[in-house]
Amino acid sequence: MQKKGNKYGTHRVIEPKGLLTQAAKKIDNNMDEIYSNEILCDVSALNIDSASFTQIYEACEKDLARTEQMILDIVNERGKMQNPVTGSGGMFIGTVKAIGEDLQGKIDLKVGDKIASLVSLSLTPLKINKIKAIHPEIDRVDVDAQAILFESGLYAKLPDDMSEELALAALDVAGAPAQTAKLVKPGDSVLILGGAGKGGMMCCYEAMKRVGPTGNVVALVICQEDADLLKSMNLCHHAIVGSATEPVDVLEKSLAANGGKEYDISILIVNVPACEMSAILPVRDNGTVYCFSMATDFAKAALGAEGCGKDVTMVIGNGYTKDHAAITLAELRENPQLKEYFEKKYL
Ligand SMILES: NC(=O)c1ccc[n+]([C@@H]2O[C@H](COP(=O)([O-])OP(=O)(O)OC[C@H]3O[C@@H](n4cnc5c(N)ncnc54)[C@H](OP(=O)(O)O)[C@@H]3O)[C@@H](O)[C@H]2O)c1
Repeated sequence: MQKKGNKYGTHRVIEPKGLLTQAAKKIDNNMDEIYSNEILCDVSALNIDSASFTQIYEACEKDLARTEQMILDIVNERGKMQNPVTGSGGMFIGTVKAIGEDLQGKIDLKVGDKIASLVSLSLTPLKINKIKAIHPEIDRVDVDAQAILFESGLYAKLPDDMSEELALAALDVAGAPAQTAKLVKPGDSVLILGGAGKGGMMCCYEAMKRVGPTGNVVALVICQEDADLLKSMNLCHHAIVGSATEPVDVLEKSLAANGGKEYDISILIVNVPACEMSAILPVRDNGTVYCFSMATDFAKAALGAEGCGKDVTMVIGNGYTKDHAAITLAELRENPQLKEYFEKKYL
């Protein structure tokens, strides 16, 4: 008989005891024996969270061998792929290898199903046997590894009308476009900081769809090439070029692109720190600032908003919102141009 586990996986916490697996410093990644409410998966690829991968890659001076070693060291030390600096993880794709006896018949999975995890690697027991390849331009690491999903863990079966790599890439940021769909209303003006990134493009598409003919979607991007790309794909009304780390410049340019008016909503979806004020300053009182970026410092955001007398609602970018996987995959099916672009980029 298998050992009984806790719904949230607390039975895997090694230290400090009493915490959940995400906050724990070290969790048990023994894959030889699973608990009765766990799902064991053979993992083929990790999509490391963009803020995390960027931090590791830069700390390793963009050296692939050092990056590989740092990833292995983190997982060996913590039992999970949680960047100690950003705190963030990512997700995996893999194949179901075993289902704990208490879950059998109660979930829509069987051994052999291909899935993407929809809970963060920052809380997922992971054992890497080998890193096969690192793709720094898309934050993907091909691995021979195993991982555990807990009873409370979310997952999506991989669709058969798109490549696994595409599904992995899109589902990694599934919370953002799905939340955009819920936040943006007809007629809204929306500023998307990091609009040419993976999540940013999907947020742009969703915002364009939701604002309708009277709205205005403006993307802040880092270079003219990205601006031209977004315009050519009809993913925004206006694209402005600048760095989200420079709030005064962003404020001026973004207001100019919105007829001088402050925005109803901003979406912060860059992968670097120190961008909070660029997302807050251009938003009107009672507007919404949606911080999806894992490089967001919430103390800076809260104190910064207070310091400028900005009465804005700040939404923490929960990686999960109801039906987020379905909404994200539907976007790719709806927009063949976006799907094709991602297919080329994330292959
Ligand atoms: N909340 C959650 O649950 C969750 C889940 C997954 C991901 N995330 C976060 O979502 C964010 C975006 O992820 P992603 O996968 O979409 O990343 P991504 O594809 O790397 O996109 C980030 C974009 O921001 C741009 N950028 C970088 N520095 C900038 C600056 N100073 N000013 C303006 N733009 C800048 C990047 O340009 P270049 O490529 O040219 O550098 C890129 O276009 C990350 O912070 C990630 O951690 C959150």
